[in-house]
Amino acid sequence: MATSIALSLDNLPSDPLLLVLSFLDFRDLISCSFVSRRLNELTGHNPLWKRLCQKHWLLSEADKTQRGLSWKDLFREYYADLGRYFDYYSTLKKAWDDLKNFLNQKCPRMIASLKEGVREDELDTIEAQIGCKLPNDYRCSYRIHNGQKLVVPGLMGSMALSNHYRSEDLLDIETAAGGFQQRKGMRQCLPLTFCFHTGLSQYMALETTEGRTRSEIFYQCPDQLAQDPSAIDMFITGSNFTEWFTSYVDNVVTGEYPIIRDQIFRYVHDKRCVATTGDITVSVSTSFLPELSSVHPPHFFFTYRIRIEMAKSALPEKACQLDSRYWKITNANGNVEEVRGPGVVGEFPVMTPGKVHEYASCTTFSTTSEYMEGHYTFHRLKNKEEVFDVSIPRFHMVCPPFRESVVRSSSVSEVSAPYDDENSSDTDDYEEGEMRGMNMADPGGRCPRHV
Ligand SMILES: *[C@@H]1O[C@H](CO)[C@@H](O)[C@H](O)[C@H]1NC(C)=O
Ligand SMILES: *[C@@H]1O[C@H](CO)[C@@H](O)[C@H](O)[C@H]1NC(C)=O
Repeated sequence: MATSIALSLDNLPSDPLLLVLSFLDFRDLISCSFVSRRLNELTGHNPLWKRLCQKHWLLSEADKTQRGLSWKDLFREYYADLGRYFDYYSTLKKAWDDLKNFLNQKCPRMIASLKEGVREDELDTIEAQIGCKLPNDYRCSYRIHNGQKLVVPGLMGSMALSNHYRSEDLLDIETAAGGFQQRKGMRQCLPLTFCFHTGLSQYMALETTEGRTRSEIFYQCPDQLAQDPSAIDMFITGSNFTEWFTSYVDNVVTGEYPIIRDQIFRYVHDKRCVATTGDITVSVSTSFLPELSSVHPPHFFFTYRIRIEMAKSALPEKACQLDSRYWKITNANGNVEEVRGPGVVGEFPVMTPGKVHEYASCTTFSTTSEYMEGHYTFHRLKNKEEVFDVSIPRFHMVCPPFRESVVRSSSVSEVSAPYDDENSSDTDDYEEGEMRGMNMADPGGRCPRHV
């Protein structure tokens, strides 16, 4: 029986056999090469290995020419070096390539700060130094690029609000290892990012301990009320390095995040969050500021960026000026607050055809989400009596997933009770009169809201 199959294979022309082989992954292709002389010859066919090189190692004709190797040998060489990362390499390499292409066009300054990949033995040395294994996908990414130099702007995005500024660098492996945590509450956590201005880092858990899961990524958030400094809550930003990094890159390269003054700003814009009234369009994007937020007590700080635009096609006599704003703010418990006031952040923008006015403001809330909507009141420049409202679309702000410290939840769980109070809200802290002229935000996370 076996003989007759081998015989019929031998009688088959090469093209259909090569077609069949082209559906196999490299392990099966190698297994086939041991079956018969005929299959051994066919599995060496270069186009088969070209496809595999392109798929798994993202190699191009140019790479092949440069190396002067056959596709099969090229595959073998990459496998010998990076085979341990076979499952992650193509995803991470593509993310890095996409990101670099984008930065090249939009913010070339950042490309210059990227560091070359590290060697395998350097990663092993780091593991020995910290006494912990690094996740394979994290290692793989560092083989491609060893993070960036400690400069501004940071690769992982910036945020600015009045005098508050954040920009997160992707740390190189040596700096990350230097910030490796052994203290109670942060055991076996490795910093991935660092911001000079706020001291903020995103950490990755290298072990499943203290209520964290291995490879989870988060912003640490010390409990401001706890006596015990090891009571550290977390805002979770990813379940592993690949997910964390590729979702960020995806947002960057699809234009989700605006590029402002050569930096990536982490504002999220919901495409539906646009309202047009007559000639004027208002759109909103939002961003969560972990460094000004806390899990316990619940205090979530968001900034929103509003863009008011008058259509180019509008008639010149439609020119108008903003007089006042009205906000209706609804928290997750359904509590509604209304805010009225003159201008926007102390300004009374004049809108003419084609003009764009942008400003940022902020809000804090103590329930897990909040939404806002409202309108601006304008008057026509040529006729002060002609007053009209322009809608501001409803936009939602939802705090990221968070987890409370096991220190607190196991010992003094009743402490959290007062914060379940539906009435608790930061809203009442701010009188409109006090807001004007204040700084937009200070490190304590106070926000003169909705100005
Ligand atoms: C990372 O997390 C995502 C989503 O939870 C999951 O689909 C993926 O398999 C994980 N990847 C790794 C490398 O652990
Ligand atoms: C919460 O609000 C309700 C109704 O507005 C009021 O009766 C109650 O006293 C308030 N509780 C606190 C703790 O302020």
